[in-house]
Amino acid sequence: MKSAIKFLKYPGIKLILIRDIEKEFKESGCSIFIDVFGGSGSVSLNLSASKIIYNDIDPEVASIFSAVKNHSEEFYSELCVMTESKEDFMSYENKPVDWKNRKVKDACLSFYRHNTSFGGKGETYGTEEKGSFQFFMKIFTNYAIISKKIRTFTVENKDFRDIFREYDSVDSFFYVDPPYPGKNWYNYEFSNEDMKDLKNVLKNTKGSYLMNFNAEDDLPKQIFGNPQYVIKYDNRNSLPGTEYKYYSFYKRVKKS
Ligand SMILES: C[S@@+](CC[C@H](N)C(=O)[O-])C[C@H]1O[C@@H](n2cnc3c(N)ncnc32)[C@H](O)[C@@H]1O
Repeated sequence: MKSAIKFLKYPGIKLILIRDIEKEFKESGCSIFIDVFGGSGSVSLNLSASKIIYNDIDPEVASIFSAVKNHSEEFYSELCVMTESKEDFMSYENKPVDWKNRKVKDACLSFYRHNTSFGGKGETYGTEEKGSFQFFMKIFTNYAIISKKIRTFTVENKDFRDIFREYDSVDSFFYVDPPYPGKNWYNYEFSNEDMKDLKNVLKNTKGSYLMNFNAEDDLPKQIFGNPQYVIKYDNRNSLPGTEYKYYSFYKRVKKS
């Protein structure tokens, strides 16, 4: 099996789930893949579909994908001049961004911040974290493949409700990986009300969908009922007692 493409270090990244997501997508017979809560883009980057829509409500994250899509070479040049220095990291200012017209250098700085920070949260400089800068350097090796793939995406920076409204069709497959309320990992978090709205949106969609949660979390069961299935995954580099991770899946896959 080919090794997965890693682009953005990010909390809640779903690299280990990709083969199972792809299996459901293929089974649906849909041709449009919509990564509603796209985050690091790990799923969009590792899946093949005739059309991929990458979306995230966070303008900072969306601006990185927009910059690579529309200014691929400039993004690469900016990346080349960045060195392993805390100054680059510290010079970043966390301002709200106009994601489509953001300066490529600023999008690149956000990218750098995520990939060198602890746990990909973009907050604490990850000097202590093993392989933090090495992860960032690996991007250089794969940049041609990554940027070629991102250039084929439609990049959006919208709330999930708008994405479902805009892209709903019988040929649409929505991959749904929302933040878990209370975790506080992201600039844009989810409330219990958002979860309830998501339930309504999913009920009314014409398309297919696959949604996942950590299986041990209770709120999804309270809102969405019991999942269709749970899968056990190896939890690499984990502490004793946490060698496995269990994900619960909810789906509606219409076979064409
Ligand atoms: C669990 S993460 C997704 C991780 C992603 N699947 C990956 O592999 O990197 C959830 C994402 O949802 C985004 N988000 C939060 N609220 C949102 C909303 N209302 N609409 C769209 N995206 C939202 C967050 O910014 C965050 O990036």
